[in-house]
Amino acid sequence: MAHQWRGVIAEYAERLPEHVQRRVITLGEGGTPLVPAPALSALTGADVFLKVEGMNPTASFKDRGMTTAISSAAGRGAKVVVCASTGNTSASAAAYATAAGMICAVLVPDGKIAMGKLSQAIAHGARLLQVDGNFDDCLVAARKLAEAYPVELVNSVNPDRIEGQKTGAFEVVDALGDAPDIHALPVGNAGNITAYWKGYREYAGLDAGSSLPPVATRTPAMWGFQAAGSAPIVLGHPVTEPETIATAIRIGNPASWQQAIDARDTSGGLIEAVTDEQILVAHRILSSQVGVFVEPASAAGVAGILALAAQGRVPAGARIVVTVTGHGLKDPQWALRTADGSEVTTMRVSADVVAIADALELG
Ligand code: F0G
Repeated sequence: MAHQWRGVIAEYAERLPEHVQRRVITLGEGGTPLVPAPALSALTGADVFLKVEGMNPTASFKDRGMTTAISSAAGRGAKVVVCASTGNTSASAAAYATAAGMICAVLVPDGKIAMGKLSQAIAHGARLLQVDGNFDDCLVAARKLAEAYPVELVNSVNPDRIEGQKTGAFEVVDALGDAPDIHALPVGNAGNITAYWKGYREYAGLDAGSSLPPVATRTPAMWGFQAAGSAPIVLGHPVTEPETIATAIRIGNPASWQQAIDARDTSGGLIEAVTDEQILVAHRILSSQVGVFVEPASAAGVAGILALAAQGRVPAGARIVVTVTGHGLKDPQWALRTADGSEVTTMRVSADVVAIADALELG
């Protein structure tokens, strides 16, 4: 019988609030592949899988929470939504708002978002403003705008976003048959670590007030990784001028800070920092050894498990799922540099089969 994945609200209806289901706006998000990564298993001595979130409709994990946030807003008759963003949230909000017939306002840090994401928001018709400030400044302004004007905030401080994003954890358990030992992921504004932890707890029957039977027998340790130049949770204080090449997680004062600490501590996990160099090495290993092309921020989780493995802190044979959060095509410039930072050059040849075979060193 014909079947197509219906998007996370329809697929997980019984585990999502009723108010997001009154007027469902979906682009078919979720149902992303959980890909075994033998190259990473070999490097870490663990059993590593990647949850490839670049396979979502706007090519990042944000779509899971945007279907619920925009559906909820649509159900209440909202006409305008706003978000602050390092890029992916704006691309997703713009697409879902368009599907809902709404206006989408976007505040992004001037000059600090990747070109692919900027193009997406513009292509989907967002009213995009480049703000003189960083992401944290944009979020403060977006919150104030939503308080003072008839505009719905669709950042992950909106609980409807977390509800949708928790389905990532459900899918991991559905694919593996139980929770992994460790779940690793990048941490920026800390919505996703909050959402995965909520999803894992609910599937293990640990949330108060649910009458649904548990699906998992356990929960994983949550391992979060921030970029070293933007690591407020690791440092224990906000960073006023966050810096990293991983612009998606260039955030100095995460909105879900406390929830991230709770996820870390109640799961027996950790939140640590990885350098830009470690991120770029992981980015390269993912593309050239695993076959998965991600944007730099998305490589932070992989950089983290590699760093911990090098320190002997990854338990042998542990089952580890790493969420790779966004597609490499969003910020492709990083593929065009070699490990030492120089520009990659490509060969030019005449359209002659012998010349081509020679260039390919096939002769
Ligand atoms: N990875 C990517 C590719 C992201 O875009 C983000 C966040 C994260 C990881 C971190 O997730 O914020 O839930 O801890 N991007 C937001 C945005 C801030 O505006 O697109 P988080």
